[in-house]
Order: sequence, then structure tokens, then C-alpha cells
Amino acid sequence: MQVQENISLKPYNTFGIDASARYFGAFSSAGMLTELMTQAKAAASAKLPMMILGGGSNILLTKDYDGLILKNNLKGIEKIDEDAESVYIKAGAGEGWHALVLHCIKNNWAGLENLSLIPGCVGASPMQNIGAYGVEVKDVFHQLTAFHLQEKCNYTFSLKDCDFGYRESVFKHKYKDQFAILSVTYRLKKTPVLNTSYGAIEAELEKMGVKELSIGAISKAVVNIRSSKLPDPKEIGNAGSFFKNPLITKEKFLSLREKYPDIPGYENADGLVKLAAGWLIEQCGPTYNVSWKGYRHGDAGVHANQALVLVNYGNASGVDIYNLSEDILRSVSEKFNVRLEREVNIV
Ligand code: FAD
Ligand code: EPU
Repeated sequence: MQVQENISLKPYNTFGIDASARYFGAFSSAGMLTELMTQAKAAASAKLPMMILGGGSNILLTKDYDGLILKNNLKGIEKIDEDAESVYIKAGAGEGWHALVLHCIKNNWAGLENLSLIPGCVGASPMQNIGAYGVEVKDVFHQLTAFHLQEKCNYTFSLKDCDFGYRESVFKHKYKDQFAILSVTYRLKKTPVLNTSYGAIEAELEKMGVKELSIGAISKAVVNIRSSKLPDPKEIGNAGSFFKNPLITKEKFLSLREKYPDIPGYENADGLVKLAAGWLIEQCGPTYNVSWKGYRHGDAGVHANQALVLVNYGNASGVDIYNLSEDILRSVSEKFNVRLEREVNIV
């Protein structure tokens, strides 16, 4: 195992951005991780920034990375415990997320099916508390083990410790780049509680002709819906939703609705209203009567089926995509007085 120098990160990020890493190494044990850090620190004179990389499906590289990229290849899925209602499934952080979902469905362990087909690795699932189709990772999370990169020891994080929110956790801000998540344990149900209430799931199940509802059928429905709207990163570079759906006060929502009667909004438990950023972006554009949806400038663009997804048609740079996101942010702010926040990690 050797640290490599000046490695192109193009194959390691789903935006397909061609930036390079000064140092790069893959690890499949905590011991290897420490060894790679020691090697890179010996080669570099100054303090070395470090970043753990999973599938690279939630990052935008805006420049070459002048530090050490540590690619997580920690594998293994095992049932470590069970009680009357639940099984406790521990997965290595480098396991593919969708592979874990399929493994659980095969074993009839319920809870991950609505999160089917989200790209990336297990280790990143708590980072932004991944969510889709009415479920978030926090709903099935039990605990995780993370290695502190400076102290060089392991910590266990409970659900409470992670302080999960909508696309948020302690790892995204407070502990950013301080820990390598090594494994995550999920608490899954032996008897499924099926969740078909969100969006188009029920309509899709009907279209599929499903007679008997199961976690496998829900997973297939979610896969079908996602495949119809979201671009496949193997074909068009992207990192899923580029922005979060903004939360605003009910008063502000009501005043926006007076002006824009079609504006979608969903009230949450805190009494705030979540707006659909895709809708806001679709209503704005580079010029007065042109929408961002389907817009393209060079190789940077906005997906034609989902305005929340920015895309790289081939040779866009990270800065091209970032600048487009700035223009979108500004136009949404000018029209609706709503500030969008990026969901993707800018590197
Ligand atoms: P990376 O992009 O490699 O890393 C993301 C961040 O996490 C980085 O800051 C990185 O340093 C950190 N990180 C990664 N692994 C570790 C680790 N082991 N320890 C410490 N830090 C780590 N997300 C959703 O929530 N819901 C969706 O429905 C969804 N749909 C998507 C659809 C498409 C087509 C795409 C391309 C992306 C989508 N995403 C979605 C975003 C993305 O897939 C998730 O955020 C995913 O969890 C990222 O995993 P990754 O392994 O690729 O993370
Ligand atoms: N909409 C538009 N135009 C668009 C896109 C969306 O008007 O171009 C409106 C529609 O009203 C639609 C609503 O937005 O009904 C919601 O759209 P969709 O169901 O596609 O979901 P989303 O809010 O755009 C969120 C997540 C996705 C997740 C889906 C399904 C965020 C930031 N995004 O998208 O997560 O898969 O819901 O649950 O919360 C990701 O995080 O990368 C991601 C893809």
C-alpha cells in the first residue's frame, strides 16, 4: 500500500470533474488509513488537509486538492444482534449504499427500501442524513464507529450524538473532515412498516400491477421513479440535488402564495414550510422569459427533467458548475426573496 501523487479524481466523482489530488490512497482497514496518513505527512512539509472519499456523488471539486484524499474501501455486512422486533445490521463504510439496500431486502430486513438507488457508500449515509421518498437515514440509524484523524482513536456515535437534521449532521459542519466513519449500524424491522405515502410511489405500484405490497415492490417502484427523473451519473455528470429545499416561516409562505398561487409548500412538524427548490428554480432563468430548467452554457447545465439537479455534459469545470449555481441562487433570491443553500459539498 503506497500513497500515490498527483492522481486525477475524474473517475472518483460523479460530476466527472477533472481535478487532481496531490496525494491519494485507498484503505480497507483503520491500520491502512493510519499508514497512508503517515506516508503522506512524511512526503509533505506543511500541514496536510485530508478528506475521506466514498463514491464522490455529493461533492463538487472546484480546484485541485492540495492534500490527501483517502478513498474508503472498508467492506463487510453482518447481522450483529437482534431482538423481538429488530435486527442490527453493521456495514463497512465502503460498501455501496444500494448494494446494502438490496442485501437487506433479500433478507427481508425492512426500513431501507424507500432509500433505494441513492448513489454512494454507506459511510456517507449519516454525513448528510440521506433521505428520499419519506424516509431519512436517522429513522433506521442505530450507531456508528468513527476514527478521529488527529487523535487516532475510535469513537462511537449514537443517534443523539449525530444531531441529524434535514440533510445535516455533526459531521457536515462541527466535525467536518475530522473523522473517518468506519462502519454504520442500522436497526431494521423484522416486520415491515410499509411507507407508500410519498409522491408517486402509489401510482407507480399501480402501474407496475403490484397485487401484494412488499419491501421489494416498494424498492422497485422507487427505482423506477428515480430513473425517470434523475440523470444517471454514468451518462451525465451530476451529484443529485444541488441545493436543499428551503424552509421558510408560514407567514412568508402565505405572502408568497398570494403572489404565486401555484407555489408548492409542505408544512413540517416545527410549523415551518418546506418549499420545492426545483419549482423555484424552474420559475427563474438567465433572462426574463427563459427558465433555468434545461438550460445549458458550455458543458454546465440544469437537468431538463429536474431543475434541482445541475449537470456536467462532459468538460465543464467545477468552477463552471459553481458559477452557474451562483447565478441560480441570485435569480431565486431576487424573484422570491428566498435564499437557497447548497446541498453538495464544495471542495
Ligand atoms: P462522497 O461524495 O464521497 O462524500 C460526501 C461527503 O461525505 C464528503 O464531504 C466526504 O468527505 C464525506 N464522507 C464520505 N464518506 C465518509 C466517511 N466514511 N467518513 C467521513 N466522511 C465521509 N442524496 C440524498 O440524500 N437523497 C437522494 O435521493 C439522493 N439522490 C441522488 C441522486 C443522484 C443521481 C446523485 C448523483 C446523488 C444523489 N444524492 C442523494 C447525493 C449522494 O448520493 C449522497 O449524499 C450519498 O450519501 C453520498 O455518498 P458518497 O459515498 O458518494 O459520498
Ligand atoms: N419541481 C418542479 N420542477 C422541477 C423539479 C421539482 O416544479 O424541475 C417541484 C414539483 O412540484 C415536485 C416537487 O418539486 O412535486 C418535488 O420534486 P421531487 O419529488 O422530484 O423532489 P425534490 O424535492 O426535488 C427531494 C430530494 C431528493 C429526493 C427526492 C425524493 C432534496 C434537496 N432533494 O427532491 O434528494 O430523492 O426529494 O424524496 O431534498 C438529493 O438529495 O440529491 C436528492 C436527489
